[in-house]
Amino acid sequence: MILQIILIVLLSKFSFAEDRKITMAINPGCGAECKQDSNILIYVRADGLNDTLHHIWDFTNKPTIVLALSPLNTTLMINWTSFKNYEEGALQFSPLPFYTFSYLVDKVIEFNDVNNTAIFDPTVYNKSDSIVHDTNFKWVLDKYVNTTSYASVTMKTDHKHYSHLLKKGCISITLSAFGTMEHSSLQPHLLHTTNATQIDIQFENLSTTKHFKSRFALGLALVSSDSANSTMHLHSRKSLDDEHSPGIFTIGEVKSKQGYLEWRTVAYTSLERSMTNSTGVSSGLFDLPGIQCFDDTALVSLFGSDLDFMLWKELYVSLGEPGDTLYSSNPFISWSFLGGIGVPGNERFSLFILLIVGFGLGVPALLIIIGGIWIVVKRFRQKNDIVFTEM
Ligand SMILES: *[C@@H]1O[C@H](CO)[C@@H](O)[C@H](O)[C@H]1NC(C)=O
Ligand SMILES: *[C@@H]1O[C@H](CO)[C@@H](O)[C@H](O)[C@H]1NC(C)=O
Ligand SMILES: *[C@@H]1O[C@H](CO)[C@@H](O)[C@H](O)[C@H]1NC(C)=O
Ligand SMILES: *[C@@H]1O[C@H](CO)[C@@H](O)[C@H](O)[C@H]1NC(C)=O
Ligand SMILES: *[C@@H]1O[C@H](CO)[C@@H](O)[C@H](O)[C@H]1NC(C)=O
Ligand SMILES: *[C@@H]1O[C@H](CO)[C@@H](O)[C@H](O)[C@H]1NC(C)=O
Ligand SMILES: *[C@@H]1O[C@H](CO)[C@@H](O)[C@H](O)[C@H]1NC(C)=O
Ligand SMILES: *[C@@H]1O[C@H](CO)[C@@H](O)[C@H](O)[C@H]1NC(C)=O
Ligand SMILES: *[C@@H]1O[C@H](CO)[C@@H](O)[C@H](O)[C@H]1NC(C)=O
Ligand SMILES: *[C@@H]1O[C@H](CO)[C@@H](O)[C@H](O)[C@H]1NC(C)=O
Repeated sequence: MILQIILIVLLSKFSFAEDRKITMAINPGCGAECKQDSNILIYVRADGLNDTLHHIWDFTNKPTIVLALSPLNTTLMINWTSFKNYEEGALQFSPLPFYTFSYLVDKVIEFNDVNNTAIFDPTVYNKSDSIVHDTNFKWVLDKYVNTTSYASVTMKTDHKHYSHLLKKGCISITLSAFGTMEHSSLQPHLLHTTNATQIDIQFENLSTTKHFKSRFALGLALVSSDSANSTMHLHSRKSLDDEHSPGIFTIGEVKSKQGYLEWRTVAYTSLERSMTNSTGVSSGLFDLPGIQCFDDTALVSLFGSDLDFMLWKELYVSLGEPGDTLYSSNPFISWSFLGGIGVPGNERFSLFILLIVGFGLGVPALLIIIGGIWIVVKRFRQKNDIVFTEM
């Protein structure tokens, strides 16, 4: 039984092992064009055995994340002169990727939660009850980590921004790419594969509107290389293994054929992420009215007019739950999600759970088997006895 458990553990460890080698470049190949401006485009290459996953993290305007899965020898070419104007073809993969999944942190919405529902519904709220900010802020590089198994960057909105929203505070976004499949070290310990980018987003000291009962929501625009006549689905499921994020059983997901977003339905109200300072999130998936929101992003430069034939949707995520403190009295909230190619990582049972299951089921099972054998042997002997007496 113990041997069996060890075998299961070893097997589950081995099937984890589709690792990727990570390399990161900031403004790759950009010479003169990046001298005055702090153009920020981060390119992370994750080479596996048979294919390469490319992460493009574009912060030159709205935060834009492109994931592309391609043959191993695919390279990304950037013409910085034409990327300055977001011309079509400024970014090019050669040879072409198998498929792509992209998302844009498109809007930050402050809404007046008069009915204390903590849900922003774009079809209900009008201009007098919500303020929609495009995220084309000036983003500056705060810090980065660059190893062969992990890359991450933290971007912040510039202090010298004139938006009322950012007068006293800032929005920061940390993006991470991984070479191995693991649980994130950051709460709520999302399980990432090597096929995803993790996004941690944080709203700190944002200014709110005086007469509002303010909460915040995010508008994420999603683009999949699925054909436009297919669709994306939003659903939630329960997590089996609660060990890594106690109490947070619900996982939210948007899935297309070729990519997904995934998150735990939890946001945090203090820098230190803890259960006591957490709240809920809610989400809704809507049709994107048009593709104007992709103007002046890496998506236009990479896909150009092909965008028309791709599948796009908009996900609204509201941070908070009915009855919790409003943003103005505790001006901090953070939330994390994963966006990836293919399918989300499958939660596997950990050694701890396996041992419990092993002992819980294994020992009684062993007893039943031994007992069973004993009874059979005993019956057999009795039968033999009977046979013998009959003879
Ligand atoms: C990351 O590390 C690799 C290998 O050491 C190096 O080639 C690359 O320039 C580094 N990237 C950045 C942004 O520092
Ligand atoms: C890579 O390709 C080889 C040959 O096509 C195949 O045997 C192997 O399973 C593939 N590995 C992965 C991780 O997909
Ligand atoms: C590399 O790309 C070329 C096309 O540019 C293709 O013909 C070739 O088969 C590729 N090689 C490998 C090893 O994938
Ligand atoms: C880059 O784009 C500019 C403007 O579109 C063009 O004039 C130039 O030839 C391009 N450079 C390369 C190396 O393709
Ligand atoms: C709040 O509730 C009232 C009454 O039920 C409703 O008319 C109104 O549309 C709601 N407002 C929002 C923003 O949901
Ligand atoms: C829309 O705005 C008006 C004020 O212009 C307000 O009275 C009304 O409640 C708002 N409607 C909703 C559904 O929020
Ligand atoms: C937010 O405000 C608090 C309290 O005034 C301050 O300690 C903190 O440094 C501020 N954070 C940012 C990012 O401005
Ligand atoms: C990543 O994507 C590739 C290609 O679709 C797939 O073969 C692989 O199993 C995926 N890896 C994980 C950990 O999901
Ligand atoms: C969707 O469009 C593609 C071509 O763009 C076509 O091959 C496919 O049959 C269509 N599917 C449906 C369900 O209409
Ligand atoms: C929770 O937030 C409160 C107020 O912001 C703070 O005083 C407290 O230390 C936080 N608790 C934890 C565990 O971070």
